[in-house]
Amino acid sequence: MITRRAWLGMAAGAALAQNAKPVRIGMVGVGNRGTSLLRNLLDLPGVEIPAICDINEANLQRGQGIVEKAGHKRPEGYWNGLEDFRRLAARDDLDAVLTATPWEWHAPVAIAAMRAGKYAATEVPAAITLEECWDLVNTSEKTGMPCMILENVCYYRNVLMILNMIRQGVFGEIVHCEGGYQHHIRKIRPDGEVSWRGMHSVKRNANLYPTHPIGPIAWWTNINRGDRFTHLTSMSSKSLGINRQAAERAGPGHPNAKRRYALGDVNTTLIRTENGVTVTLTHDTQSPRPYDLGFKLQGTLGIYSGTLEKIFIHDAASGPEQWRDMGPYYEKYEHPVWKRLGQTATKYGHFGGDYLELLEFVAAVRNRTQTPIDVYDSAVWSAITPLTEQSVAGGSAPVDFPDFTRGKWKTAKPVEVTGG
Ligand SMILES: NC(=O)c1ccc[n+]([C@@H]2O[C@H](COP(=O)([O-])OP(=O)(O)OC[C@H]3O[C@@H](n4cnc5c(N)ncnc54)[C@H](O)[C@@H]3O)[C@@H](O)[C@H]2O)c1
Repeated sequence: MITRRAWLGMAAGAALAQNAKPVRIGMVGVGNRGTSLLRNLLDLPGVEIPAICDINEANLQRGQGIVEKAGHKRPEGYWNGLEDFRRLAARDDLDAVLTATPWEWHAPVAIAAMRAGKYAATEVPAAITLEECWDLVNTSEKTGMPCMILENVCYYRNVLMILNMIRQGVFGEIVHCEGGYQHHIRKIRPDGEVSWRGMHSVKRNANLYPTHPIGPIAWWTNINRGDRFTHLTSMSSKSLGINRQAAERAGPGHPNAKRRYALGDVNTTLIRTENGVTVTLTHDTQSPRPYDLGFKLQGTLGIYSGTLEKIFIHDAASGPEQWRDMGPYYEKYEHPVWKRLGQTATKYGHFGGDYLELLEFVAAVRNRTQTPIDVYDSAVWSAITPLTEQSVAGGSAPVDFPDFTRGKWKTAKPVEVTGG
């Protein structure tokens, strides 16, 4: 009998016509997310995992077991402290290093990988300070090694169809976009302690997780590729949500229910681009609410709402200005990558985004080409956290974006999504 995983592997193999030259990836961090990425990678033809690093021995052994069970040699394990990833990165039998550790390790792992001549892939965000953003850029430029933030939302079906429609001029000229990370994250563990993710909310008042909405918006508006973010201003509401979570989990008398948390429940940011596009970004991870990326795109000829999953295009036949269903638009403007690979992609996590992002990363490593999301994208999308932190601390004062491309945004070509 063919298992579901085996079938997925075969389907993925059939989808890839290319010669499956081996691509050897070292994994750093195989907790929840890293394990899911590991399973997906093992379904891609030619991918080998010679080494895994995780400070948690149980997680490491689970990862090693998954690779063995998929019919490969047991990967060598690294668990000798927080910086043991450096020994993994130094191996001479790896083409790439992928990190899915907590945020503070993403840039150090990616930098170690590039310095050792490997492609770097990092979970989101790629960096948590401006200094780390510059270190990523400078290291990539110096070593010639690409660094890709694994922003899976860029590969969602709706995001790529809207990109396709923009490229065909259906929305006219884009004037405004909206997006948000609005996801009720449990930051208090069952034992009443604050999770590693929650610890960032203890210390920082900012948009802590900007890349899921800003990645797609940056692709829609050609950021770093014809346009650039110039400045932002940011404001946070008061902070009440984590106290409520802690009181619910550990009781109102627990110290974590009474503690002061820096992160405002709702952070709202306005960004402007060189070409005059405005962007509103929301970050809300501690209010009870349905998950919503809150996408909206307004052009001179029409509007798309991701929350409603509706559209309105102004043309001679458009009739009254009312929201329209997306069905006919998917029939006409489905992105070619989704037409070709959508059936396979949707069997994987995050509506298929997890499959397509890894397919594109692995293809770039195999072909020794630039990754579709490059180090400049990784840096500018991640920089929103420290920049919003500065703005909030300064009474919502405008803060300039650094130009990580040092002027290359003026001539760089818009992103091409090929599916690998
Ligand atoms: N793109 C997405 O949709 C998505 C979804 C979930 C999580 N994430 C991201 O993935 C990352 C991991 O999240 P998670 O939920 O899997 O967390 P997790 O806590 O479940 O896993 C983190 C793992 O990293 C290990 N680790 C910690 N420090 C390490 C170090 N210095 N060296 C080696 N291993 C180390 C831990 O032992 C653990 O196994 C985060 O950055 C998170 O934001 C992204």
